[in-house]
Amino acid sequence: MAMQDPRFLLETSPRQNLHARFAQDVLRGLSAAPKRIPSVYFYDSIGSELFEKICTLPEYYITRTEKAILETHIHDIARFQNGSDLSLVEFGSGSSYKTRLLIQAFLQQQGHLTYRPIDISDSILREGARRLLNDFPALRVHALAAEYDDGIRKIQQANVSPKILVFLGSNIGNFEPPQAVDFLNKMRHIMQPRDLLLLGTDMVKPRHILEPAYDDAQQVTAQFNLNLLRRINRELGGDFDLSRFRHRAFFNETESRIEMHIESIGQQQAHIAALDRTFAFRAGETIHTENSYKFTPDMLQSIFAAAGLKRLQHWQDADGYFRLNLLGPA
Ligand code: AVJ
Repeated sequence: MAMQDPRFLLETSPRQNLHARFAQDVLRGLSAAPKRIPSVYFYDSIGSELFEKICTLPEYYITRTEKAILETHIHDIARFQNGSDLSLVEFGSGSSYKTRLLIQAFLQQQGHLTYRPIDISDSILREGARRLLNDFPALRVHALAAEYDDGIRKIQQANVSPKILVFLGSNIGNFEPPQAVDFLNKMRHIMQPRDLLLLGTDMVKPRHILEPAYDDAQQVTAQFNLNLLRRINRELGGDFDLSRFRHRAFFNETESRIEMHIESIGQQQAHIAALDRTFAFRAGETIHTENSYKFTPDMLQSIFAAAGLKRLQHWQDADGYFRLNLLGPA
């Protein structure tokens, strides 16, 4: 079992009072007009599991397309390896399902590998590590349960190099474009000249492909979205009636993003004990819960340039639905 495996290390970043921050963000977001809750709060252990399930849905092309690109081009990607002691650092690793392809390729090349997954869900990190360590005897996993910024600090402090930073699944799409630039900039700052960044980006495509990916027939995405209200009920003593809210997802073409909202069915109120507050909802009023940006080649070019990164290579599927970008410091 991974927990007792000497090849496994799990560090938990001492986040200052996540509970207080959740309460504060919910108070701020539900007091705003329009109402909003940051998408980072999707990922409690239930939400993280629901997201894993989303990744296997027929409508959610992202995971399988990215995996197919990785499979097809894995040797090309591995060719860029800079030396024989590369570490693999992954932000938002989740269960590391796709990363195993990279792990396998680097293990083949250098015989050993330290994999440093960073994710906010420690349960997902444990489960992912257990599976990887089972399959790869020469692997070491040094996991970090933390948010991205803490992760960046940790990697900088530990002076990990040479390394390839990996940010898959178009997780970058959750940032507003200026914040995406900031974040990539921070990554660039912890990169040595020959370090690499492998970045997955979901591309603009027809609405009839995009929208079902965020509004699937089995309603898993709806559960994932509404889990935010469940989480408020559980952790903050809310009394949201889940049967009176519904999931909404649509492509906002002007902003080039999928928006997810939770819509109030009818006029109602919800009380949140931990905030000692009652919030009123008009019929049809929504809580904006997520933006998932979809990129064009031009958008990517300007984001990379603004972040001080240069593209060494990119790979995509035949439809151009998804891109893997290999970047280095400019
Ligand atoms: C994890 C941010 C890449 O935007 O596609 C999936 C999250 N939201 N279905 C995405 C998500 C609804 C996902 N990312």
